[in-house]
This record gives sequence, structure tokens and C-alpha cells, in this order.
Amino acid sequence: MDIKDYLSSKKEIIERFLESYLPHEESYPQEIHKAMRYSLFAGGKRLRPILSIASYETVRDDTNSILPVVCAIELIHTYSLIHDDLPSMDNDNFRRGKQTNHKVFGESIAILAGDALLTMAFTMMTDEFYTRKIKPESLIQVIREISLAAGDKGMVGGQAVDILSEDRSIDLKTLEYIHTNKTGALIRASVRAGGILAGANEEKLKGMTLYGEGIGLAFQITDDILDIEGTKEDLGKETGMDSAKGKNTYPALVGIDSSKVKVKELIDNALVALKNFDERADPLREIALYIGSRRN
Ligand code: IPE
Ligand code: IPE
Ligand code: MG
Ligand code: MG
Ligand code: MG
Repeated sequence: MDIKDYLSSKKEIIERFLESYLPHEESYPQEIHKAMRYSLFAGGKRLRPILSIASYETVRDDTNSILPVVCAIELIHTYSLIHDDLPSMDNDNFRRGKQTNHKVFGESIAILAGDALLTMAFTMMTDEFYTRKIKPESLIQVIREISLAAGDKGMVGGQAVDILSEDRSIDLKTLEYIHTNKTGALIRASVRAGGILAGANEEKLKGMTLYGEGIGLAFQITDDILDIEGTKEDLGKETGMDSAKGKNTYPALVGIDSSKVKVKELIDNALVALKNFDERADPLREIALYIGSRRN
């Protein structure tokens, strides 16, 4: 399989669903809908929903039935980016190849657009019509999983420690906490969500969990590496920002070479976690390899 084709075909399905679900720009209050759409349709990779789909498709094929849940994860992710870029957080000017949300719409609307995307995720996941093919028990389990991953015991917790640790020296254990929570938690939940919705058995779900944890941490370490070695054109965001802001990153703590070794180890472990999966897990395997070598 060609991973580029795979990613672009799944991305298209996700774009179509999101486009059909989001209120139009002309819908009152226009400013908030414009701001939500501005960041959501700015060209994200859609990695998290793609992971959910790839995970689901190791067991079942009727992908359309889970789109409201997997796309809800992208709404939460996009909200996290809008808030992450705010002047009181990372104070960034570029995201997804465009000016950041608050630069265009102002801070108040950017905060509200983030809030609205987060809230809409739950409206979307509980839409009676769109989710009618999902077993109610699985849906509740997945909503709980996603909400835990997004909150204080997940992404928000990691973001809080990230911010509180700026310009301070922290140990590797704390850095691992930041990375596994601010980024790893939602990636892990995305993979598990696909498994839960597909009714994967305990053993499979365990493999998916280990896989999700491995690629989740690898993804953020790579983000740190790309902040040093990547380009603004490839990334759609400014580089060199972490050291300028006194952020604790893997390269800052252990050096760039050890960071790369760590990414490779994590990807290898993620692949081992899938060893008992058949060829239907090939997309998950390819995505892991892509994460280990990505340039954007
Ligand atoms: C960026 O996430 C923020 C991190 C968690 C490192 P992505 O690299 O997935 O960003 P998009 O969604 O493609 O813009
Ligand atoms: C962000 O980590 C993680 C989120 C929860 C958004 P970063 O602050 O390193 O992400 P970028 O580099 O701004 O995309
Ligand atoms: Mg940040
Ligand atoms: Mg940031
Ligand atoms: Mg970063």
C-alpha cells in the first residue's frame, strides 16, 4: 500500500464530513462560525481521525458509521491548537500555513472559537441521526475515553505543566509527563476509539493502546525535533520557537541525536505491539513509520 494515497483518501472523507457538519460562515453569529471554520479548514493533517479509522478498519469496514466520533476528535485537536497559540500560551503567529486565529479574529473570538469547537465535539458525538449505527454502550465508552484524554488528566494537564515549566529546568520524567499528556493522550485515545467502536477484544485493544502510546510520544518528540530542523514551509508554523520560549523539549534535555534514537525505539515498540495483527493493520504500521520520518 502507498501511505500517501491512504492518508489523502481518508483525509478527503474526513474533510467532507466536517464540511457538511459545520455551520456556514453566514450563519449567525457569523464571526464565531468564521473563526471556527478558519482554523478547522486551514489544512491540518487529520492524523488523529485517520488513526481512529485505521484502527477501526483492523476489525470492521463500515467506516462511515463512525465519522461523527472520529471527526469530533479533530474538533478537539483544532481547539487545542487555537488555545495553544494564544498570547498567554505559546504566543504564536502562524499555524497550518496561515496567521493564527487570534491574529485574525482577536483573542476573545479565538478563545470562544476554541470553546465552541470543543463543545461541538460532544454535540457531534451524540447526534442521534449520525451515530445511529453505533452501539450506545460503545459510544458512551468512547466519549468517556476522549473526554478523559482531553481534560486535566490528559491534554490540559500536559499543557498546564508545559506552561508552568517554561524557563525552568525539569527532569526527564516530568518532560515525559508533559509529552505523553499534551499530545500522547489524544493520539492514544484516537487509536483506542477505533478499537472500541469496532468491538475489538481485550488483547487487540491492549496492542492498540501500546501502539498509540508509542506513536503518541514519538509524535511530540518529532514535533520538538522539527522545531529545530524543519522549515516553516513544510510545517506551516514558525520554527525555533521552543528555545526562544524556554520550552522544555527532548532535544533541549537529551540532545537531538538521543531524541532521534528515542523516536526510533518508540516506533519499533509500536510496531511490536501490533505483531499479532494481520495485514489489516498495515495502515497503522505505515502510519507509525510515517510518524518516525515525517517532515510536517
Ligand atoms: C500539532 O499537531 C500539535 C501537536 C500536538 C504537536 P499536528 O502536527 O497533528 O497538527 P495539524 O493538525 O496537522 O495541523
Ligand atoms: C502542543 O504542543 C500540544 C497541544 C496540545 C496543542 P506544541 O506547543 O509543541 O505544539 P506546536 O509546536 O505549537 O504545534
Ligand atoms: Mg504548546
Ligand atoms: Mg505551541
Ligand atoms: Mg511544538
